Amino acid sequence: MDARCPAGTCVLVAAMIEVLGALAGGASSPVRAGRRVGGEPFVCVRGDGPYAFDATGRRYIDYVMGYGPLLFGHTPPFLRDLDALAARGVVFGSTSPDELALAERIRTHLPSMERLRFTTTGSEAVQGAVRVARAFTGRDLVLKFAGNYHGHFDLALQDAGASAETPDAHRSGIPRALLDDLIVARYNDLDDVDRHLARAGDRLAAILVEPICGNMGLVETVPGFLDGLQARARRHGALLIFDEIITWLRLGLGGAQTRVGVTPDLTTVGKVLGGGFPLAAFGGRADVMAMLAPDGPCFTGGTHAGMPFAVALGLRVLDTLENDPESLLATNRRAGALAGGIRRILGDLALGYAVLQLESIVDFKFRSGSPTRSYDDQRRDDQRAYAAFYHAMRERGVLLPPSHNEVMFLSTAHGEADIELTLHAIEDSLSELRSKGTI
Ligand SMILES: Cc1ncc(COP(=O)(O)O)c(C=O)c1O
Repeated sequence: MDARCPAGTCVLVAAMIEVLGALAGGASSPVRAGRRVGGEPFVCVRGDGPYAFDATGRRYIDYVMGYGPLLFGHTPPFLRDLDALAARGVVFGSTSPDELALAERIRTHLPSMERLRFTTTGSEAVQGAVRVARAFTGRDLVLKFAGNYHGHFDLALQDAGASAETPDAHRSGIPRALLDDLIVARYNDLDDVDRHLARAGDRLAAILVEPICGNMGLVETVPGFLDGLQARARRHGALLIFDEIITWLRLGLGGAQTRVGVTPDLTTVGKVLGGGFPLAAFGGRADVMAMLAPDGPCFTGGTHAGMPFAVALGLRVLDTLENDPESLLATNRRAGALAGGIRRILGDLALGYAVLQLESIVDFKFRSGSPTRSYDDQRRDDQRAYAAFYHAMRERGVLLPPSHNEVMFLSTAHGEADIELTLHAIEDSLSELRSKGTI
């Protein structure tokens, strides 16, 4: 019997893997199928604080954290009294007072969102931002960056990061005609942007960018890049859209835009906002958002957009962050300790990989040299080594994302003991990889 499979539970695991067959590709979102790292996909039966549990009851320290939303772990205190929330109804089909209150509070923290609209997913939020930018400018062309990820609508997917490998539009079901209205430039490279824009004339509607990217590993922008994008957007009569679906709240209540000191025309937020429930929003300049129906001709909406249940959780998320800033700071310090520990281990093994940490996000790639600046850098990392590392860590009870493009997300629930155990697992795993000649 497999030592990790107590009596009877292997059958259960096998049955669950069998059931995956009913899901297209074995997952509702491709990365979860784990094809990038091979082996059996992780099937999560339940979560508790910083931990995920498989069908055998085995506990893993979880650094996937739902791909970002779980800033407070799997079971934060604000998930109390959900019955009371459900008892007042979960979807009204009309505007609710909580929705107005949440919009007001978001605007307090992100003043650039003078007007905003709620959506269910981040994909819809970015799609809405792009559409309203096109409606406002009366133009079609959008410039975005290889390796950024903005969701799963057509335009966003071309050459996207995260788990979307879609360099061939036609085979991916992306209309080829759409590519006439899309420029994909190199991240952190204003010369490349200028080369593309030289051919854009007066067709540019928007520049869409992750101001700090979390979808080709963690990538910060070089000084001047975002200001440069803003200047170019203005020069071309176009709008600048910051996709802050990962960064807002993860990097604090002011998001990336406060940190980098550049104010976009439009912003998208999501992930942490819903406290684990699906909730996102897009918003920005009042004159641009006035294009939205019913004030203007640009339609976005949805049955579940701004649903009261998720909005109530959004208010609880903001309460938590506003009332207890220390717990987030403590989390960021623990992330710093994790990053510092990884640097020490890599140093001991004479591995020259860059380790990055921003607030509660930690990342390193299997590639020596300077940190990733663009998707071209990221494509040079050793995916085979990452796959081996993923499995070595999983065997040691630590769950990492099953794709080298993703990052490690910590939560306020990750304690010092979890960080220590994780560092031991990293040390052991990398030593094993070294002894096998993988790295
Ligand atoms: C930066 C960014 N934008 C947009 C999205 C899409 O959000 P959703 O998965 O909620 O549609 C994601 C998802 O990972 C993201 O990381």
